Amino acid sequence: MASKLLVVDVHTHLYLPRYASLLRERTTLPKIITRTRDDGRKDERLVILKDEPSGGRPIGPSYVERDEKLTFMKKHGIDISIVSTANPWLDFLQPKEAHQLSLQLNDDLEEYCSTGPTVTGTSMKQLYGFGLLPIVSGISTESLLEAVRQISASSHLKGLIMGTRGVGKGLDDEALDPIWAAISEAGLAVFLHPHYGISKESWGAKNNGHVLPLALGFPMETTIATTRLILSGVFDRFPSLRLLLAHSGGALPQLSSRLASCIDHDPIVASRLKHDARFYLGKLYLDAVCYGPEELGFVSDVIARSNRYETGSKNVASGGRSSGSGRMLFGTDHPFFPPLSSSERWKSVVENLDAIENVQGWTEADKNGVKGGNAISLFNL
Ligand code: URA
Ligand code: ZN
Repeated sequence: MASKLLVVDVHTHLYLPRYASLLRERTTLPKIITRTRDDGRKDERLVILKDEPSGGRPIGPSYVERDEKLTFMKKHGIDISIVSTANPWLDFLQPKEAHQLSLQLNDDLEEYCSTGPTVTGTSMKQLYGFGLLPIVSGISTESLLEAVRQISASSHLKGLIMGTRGVGKGLDDEALDPIWAAISEAGLAVFLHPHYGISKESWGAKNNGHVLPLALGFPMETTIATTRLILSGVFDRFPSLRLLLAHSGGALPQLSSRLASCIDHDPIVASRLKHDARFYLGKLYLDAVCYGPEELGFVSDVIARSNRYETGSKNVASGGRSSGSGRMLFGTDHPFFPPLSSSERWKSVVENLDAIENVQGWTEADKNGVKGGNAISLFNL
């Protein structure tokens, strides 16, 4: 590892040219549309969310071009990015097309990373990636395993990004057990990312733009999917599975003791799990994309506490705030959340970096770990 402290962005997206072309060809969601503005200029918009407010979001070269990603990284002092295809991945395709496209996009991403620059003075690349599985309804287990093998054999792909639908019944579906087994065995990390949010009825009739689906819907989707995974015993069956949660795990840290209590009081689930629900939070990795030092500190406390629940005993001392920070990793969510008016550095990025700097009780080592050291270890960069 280089002696310079490296900043690693684990939550940063792209649409590879092949994928963007597909979205441009489509007439139904998800799609990229071209709008002609009042002044006659044309701009492209990304329409991917069901009930997408206000005709989608502007999409520009930062979603596709590698040079734009590198320029963004330089501007914000990011040395390495682990890039992932943005939502909704291959979810909308039929199995045959999803299978074929996953293999092509994984090859494209490997090339995007391997032909990119290296970090000065090191043998590390500036770009690594999370591959894609063709995880859609009706896909064969063998097709999923083929993509796991491909990702595992691609030296610049360090894991895979996955949504919450699974093969139609969510991630707690036992049909996925061979996939969790293969992913664990290959030592790949799974980046769990939302797309669907929660039903639009929750948002009422006021026009609040994208705020409610993105601020609340996305993290609740991750919260529910991860809770279902815990309840299904996936972490008991696959203890070495490495799951990285988007947006700092949503509301799961805040709700984990309530979850444990509800399990304790429910005859259907009480005896199903080997551990108290809070133990499983310590098995997770979480990005540090929550924009505030208090939230980061709270999440790291909850993660650190999990070792108290290893054996069901509640008397073992907590691991302390620092040990929780070891499972948290800096991210930006680029190219989403660009500044509304032109600015040198993006507020969304500066806030997440400042949040890490300002967590009460985190040592310099904790902060450096979250900014990059933890990612270097987790992904063996
Ligand atoms: N909006 C999205 O659709 N995806 C993200 O990752 C962030 C914002
Ligand atoms: Zn994201």
